Amino acid sequence: MNRVSAFAPGRVNLIGEYTDLIGGRVLPIAIDLGTTVDGVRGGAVVELRSDRMPDPAIVPLGIDDPSGFDGWSRHVAGIVAELRPTVGFRGEVRTSLPIGSGLSSSAALGVAIALALGFRGSDEQLARLARRAEQRATGVPCGIMDQLASVAGRAGHALAIDCSSLAIEPVPIPGGIEIRIVDSGITRELAASAYGRRKAAIDEAVRLVGPLTEVDDPGRLDEIRDPTVRRRARHVVTEHRRVAEMIVALRDDDRAAMGRILAAGQRSLRDDLEVSLPAIDDRIRRITSSDGVIGARLTGAGFGGAIVVLAEAGAIGAGRRVVASGGARRSG
Ligand code: GLA
Repeated sequence: MNRVSAFAPGRVNLIGEYTDLIGGRVLPIAIDLGTTVDGVRGGAVVELRSDRMPDPAIVPLGIDDPSGFDGWSRHVAGIVAELRPTVGFRGEVRTSLPIGSGLSSSAALGVAIALALGFRGSDEQLARLARRAEQRATGVPCGIMDQLASVAGRAGHALAIDCSSLAIEPVPIPGGIEIRIVDSGITRELAASAYGRRKAAIDEAVRLVGPLTEVDDPGRLDEIRDPTVRRRARHVVTEHRRVAEMIVALRDDDRAAMGRILAAGQRSLRDDLEVSLPAIDDRIRRITSSDGVIGARLTGAGFGGAIVVLAEAGAIGAGRRVVASGGARRSG
C-alpha cells in the first residue's frame, strides 16, 4: 500500500485584512506551524483521526453536500465534495497550529487533506478548491488569502498576493527581524456570522462607489450615506494602501515605517472594521511598549485570535517566534 504524507502550513497576515474581498493585495506569511495528514490510499471512504478531536471523521466517496456532516468531519466532507476522489483514504491528522486562532488552521487542514487525497493541478487550482470546500463546509464567504498563502508559502518571504489576478510577488523579510505570534486566548465563536456581515457591507460599498481597489482618495467614500458601510469601506481602502506601504517598508528595511503601518492597521481594525476587542487593544499596547518591538496588530479575520508582532531579533518577551516557511507539500 502506498503511504502518503501531506503538510500544509498556517499563515500570519502581516497587513491587508479583508482586502482579498475587494480583489486587492494582501501580505501573508506562511509559517512553520501547520497540519500534516499521513495515511494510506484505498477503500471507498475517507477516514481520518485527529490528535485534537475525540471522534474520527468518516466521509464516503461520492458525496455532494458537506452540510450533513458535523464538526471537523464537515471540513473533510467539503474537500471530498469538491475534489471527488475515486479512491478512499485512511489516516491521521496532526497539527501544530492553535485551532481557531486566526492562523488559518482550517485552510491548512483543507489543503493538507486535498493533497493527501491525491489532488493534482496548479497552486492556484488547489487554493481555489480548498477555498470552495471551506465556504461550503462553514458557510463563511471567505476570500482566497489563507488557502493561497498555505499553498504558495516561501521561506524567508512574505507573499504580496494580488487577489484579482492571483499573481504572487515574494517580498523578503529583512534579516534581524523576527515574526512572533501572541495568542490573545480569546476564542472566536461569533467570527463566522460577523465575517459575513463585514463582507456584505464591503460588497454594498462596491455597489455604491465601484471597485474599491481603484479608490485612492478615501474622501470619495463620503458619498456613502450609511455610516457603517462607509467605515467598512474606509478600512479596506486605507488597508489596501497600507499593503503597498508595507511592501516598500520591507524592501527598504524601514522599521519605523513598519511600526507605523501596523499601528495604523490596528486602529483601522478597531475603529472602522470593528473586529478588534478592548482586551486585544490593551494587549497590543503592552506589547508595542516593550523594548525591541517594531510593531504589532491583530491578524486574520478578528474577533479574537492571534496578534502578529514584528520584533528585533532576540528581543525578550513578545510571544512565540514563527519562521516564514515554504508552502504545502506531499510525499508518497
Ligand atoms: C479570513 C478569511 C480571509 C481573509 C481574512 C481577513 O482569514 O478566510 O479570506 O478575508 O479573514 O483578512
